[in-house]
Amino acid sequence: MKGSGDQGWTFDGAAQKRHGDSDRESSERQLRHPPGKVTDGRPNQRPNRTVAPLGRGATSGWPRRWAGKMKMPRLELRPLQVEDELSFRKAVDEFRHDTPPWEFAFQYDHLGNFSEYVNKLENWSHGLELPGNFVPNSFYVGVVDGLIVGRLSLRHCLNNWLRRIGGHIGYGVIPTQRKRGYATDMLRQVLPICAKLRIENVLLTCDVDNIGSRQVIEKCGGVLDKITDYPDLA
Ligand SMILES: CC(C)(COP(=O)(O)OP(=O)(O)OC[C@H]1O[C@@H](n2cnc3c(N)ncnc32)[C@H](O)[C@@H]1OP(=O)(O)O)[C@@H](O)C(=O)NCCC(=O)NCCS
Repeated sequence: MKGSGDQGWTFDGAAQKRHGDSDRESSERQLRHPPGKVTDGRPNQRPNRTVAPLGRGATSGWPRRWAGKMKMPRLELRPLQVEDELSFRKAVDEFRHDTPPWEFAFQYDHLGNFSEYVNKLENWSHGLELPGNFVPNSFYVGVVDGLIVGRLSLRHCLNNWLRRIGGHIGYGVIPTQRKRGYATDMLRQVLPICAKLRIENVLLTCDVDNIGSRQVIEKCGGVLDKITDYPDLA
């Protein structure tokens, strides 16, 4: 029995006799597996069984723990900051060459003062100084390793145009950073913010042939509501 593994390890005299152990052997064994406290503070009460019950190690008899790892999201979704100026300009430039054209930055003037632009976006999120047909909206950037990889705009409510075309949320990822899960990450992260704003049914729209955007929406739990033709947009 000496060194024969964990099965049948006992500390009661009857079992020691059954296995024919000498007193010396059993005291050696007790020294190697003292019945007192073990390092994690639990009493060392090994069950006297040859078959491990469910949830216990088949050979050791100790409870087994299931451990899963979760990666922290690499992408941070947050409002634009003054420090983002260079990275933001780069993203705007990359989008200028994208086809079909897509508006990355609303009312952004390349030559203008960047901190004023950041303030303007902040004001919009509070429903202040909104241009023309804009509703209160939050402008977020997706940042990975300090670089802006995309942006997401959350409209706090819908007007007629948004109800037809724009929806509550619009997002874009800069061309060189696509197909890395960033749009999905941004949309996932904004959904709790929608809940805080009490937007019960978040409306997202995209062109029928925008496979990427459709996938992003569906990956985040979006369900197709309807497909509509808009001849007036042609
Ligand atoms: C649509 C867009 C936002 C997708 O961004 P993205 O960061 O590449 O998206 P993700 O990486 O999260 O992709 C999600 C899924 O869609 C797939 N996908 C993305 N773009 C795709 C494309 N053009 N064709 C086919 N599948 C695509 C991805 O492979 C991924 O699938 P997987 O998880 O099974 O691999 C990006 O292409 C873009 O900015 N386009 C221009 C602006 C735009 O159309 N915005 C949406 C307006 S409604």
